Amino acid sequence: MYNPALQQKLHELVKTHQIKDAKFVERFTANMDDIHSHFHAIYGNHPQSAKLFQNLLNSICQAFVDRSDDLKKRDAQKAKKGTWFLSQDLVGMSLYVDRFAGKINDLADKLPYLQKLGVNFLHLMPLFKSPEGESDGGYAVEDFRVVEDRLGTIEDLRRFQSTLQKEDMYLMIDIVLNHTSHHHEWAKLAKSGIKEYQDYFYMYDNRLIPDQMENTMPEIFPESSPGSFTYDEKLDKWVMTVFHHYQWDLNYTNPKVFIEMLGNVFYYANLGVDVVRIDAPAFIWKQVGTTCQNLPEAHQLLQLIKMCTEVATPGMAILGEAIVAPAQIMEYFGTGRYARHECDFAYNATQMAVQWDALATGDVRIMQNAQHELMRKPLGATWLTYTRCHDDIGLGYDDYMIDQAGFTPYDHRSYIKNYYSGVIENSPAKGALFAVNPKTQDARLSGSLASLCGLEYAIDRKDNAAIQTSIDKIILMQAMSMFVGGVPMLFYGDEAGYTNDYSYLEDPGKSYDNRWMHRPIINWEQNKRVQKKGSVENRVYSALQKLIKLRRSSDVLADVKNIHWIPNQNNSIAGFTRFKDGEKFTCLFNFSSKLQAISWFVMDENGQRPAEVKDLWSGETLHVGMDHDHVMLAPYQFRILF
Ligand code: GLC
Repeated sequence: MYNPALQQKLHELVKTHQIKDAKFVERFTANMDDIHSHFHAIYGNHPQSAKLFQNLLNSICQAFVDRSDDLKKRDAQKAKKGTWFLSQDLVGMSLYVDRFAGKINDLADKLPYLQKLGVNFLHLMPLFKSPEGESDGGYAVEDFRVVEDRLGTIEDLRRFQSTLQKEDMYLMIDIVLNHTSHHHEWAKLAKSGIKEYQDYFYMYDNRLIPDQMENTMPEIFPESSPGSFTYDEKLDKWVMTVFHHYQWDLNYTNPKVFIEMLGNVFYYANLGVDVVRIDAPAFIWKQVGTTCQNLPEAHQLLQLIKMCTEVATPGMAILGEAIVAPAQIMEYFGTGRYARHECDFAYNATQMAVQWDALATGDVRIMQNAQHELMRKPLGATWLTYTRCHDDIGLGYDDYMIDQAGFTPYDHRSYIKNYYSGVIENSPAKGALFAVNPKTQDARLSGSLASLCGLEYAIDRKDNAAIQTSIDKIILMQAMSMFVGGVPMLFYGDEAGYTNDYSYLEDPGKSYDNRWMHRPIINWEQNKRVQKKGSVENRVYSALQKLIKLRRSSDVLADVKNIHWIPNQNNSIAGFTRFKDGEKFTCLFNFSSKLQAISWFVMDENGQRPAEVKDLWSGETLHVGMDHDHVMLAPYQFRILF
């Protein structure tokens, strides 16, 4: 809405900061009123609201002034491409710099390995200063602007970013928005008794409010850090620590916290980050009587971040790491007027989990039941699709999705957990339960892609047939995330079939957290085998290479809301079509250990059926039959029909 006072303010700002860029002014003009109303809705009652709003506006201008010409050029190129991140060209990998390569400066040497595979988008796991032993893999940040010594320096990071840019590759890093390490400067100042910094966190003199809040807050790490508050002896106060006891939750009811953290987002944007991964956004607003997750204010704050970055650093997209219930994940794309104006990406945690579900049971109905929810994603936003990441697997899909498939939710989830943690006899999966809650019996799962697919078990038994089956499962899982729509994000090690790494048990800073079993230390001698024909590493790597090529081969696979799920015909076969401009890929996936069949009816379009189709994966040409004829899929086989 036009607001003359705000427009006047904007003119003054542009003048003060000597900004002459017409596009910047255009973007600011378009977003100014909404930035104002969002800020006002949350912080309007704060005594310094007007002054802090002015600070916010100044920080937007300053971020633009600080943005290098190179990055501004890149912003313009991205804008020209349209929504650049919807492209089928993007294929990512998530990795820990130290465990993958050593230091940031060692990464450049590894680029040919990644490029050969087809990866052009890197998610570097947290890089910033974080206390050893109390680090949560870098998610307990001590300084948002200093790179961890072990990994290098901020200059190394800048240099690596420009190498990536020259190679036409993209970079993602995390902003840990919800909390800091208790060794962060703000926490230290708070501990020294300075009230201004105590207000950066949630801290209470007694258990009254903590007790009230804990009544309704689920525990995130019930085994290693039970509860959501930690008593700090020095302060003689209870500090909110939703994750680990050493991660202090930031208090976003304080606008100063928001403005400081937005400054850190801008800082990362101006390092040349293409996508910023907002860690744990569901948690950033708390309120007594709620789960303290997914609250409307959390969404407002994320929208505010989106609008501010859209103005100052427009080429940077936002990924919201909201691993919550299916309907709630959808809200991170923005709702109502803000649909598609919050996070550009969200993890498709629902799809990931239902794939694991289907692999354990050989039944795809729960996956099919989840799709009506996932189809609500707005055009212009996209998924980050994945089979594994550094975190655990939560069975976060809804009970009704299980119910509708004819299973009992509690028993069904127990079965899946037992299957992957190897409790069930004959289960080839070697994973472990993570974060078991003794009060609710809730648990999530750890384990590498390969071990969960049975590779570790098969190798231990030297069973070649079982090794092949586990590789087939790995490829099936990866194929689905390549084609289901969104940007696939591989997890390092998985491309070479790495099984669980149990060395974390020797490290007291890690042994309490079994997620480390699936965060391997790369052995480059082993990885050389990706080139050795017939080796396990080679079979996995070369299949991924081929999948990535296939994905890149057609813009039918770009994510423009062009997916249609094929109604159930066979409980073990999931299928969808991807379509664009009259072209169509029919993708079929057999999740069972048995030969399965599905009617050629799946190839119908407007009453027409082609006489022949090509399976782009196997290379076969198939003659399309009548309704009563079937296309066959071997155990764990998939077909990409064109
Ligand atoms: C996110 C990270 C996870 C971390 C948590 C707390 O969920 O992915 O690894 O433990 O946030 O920062």
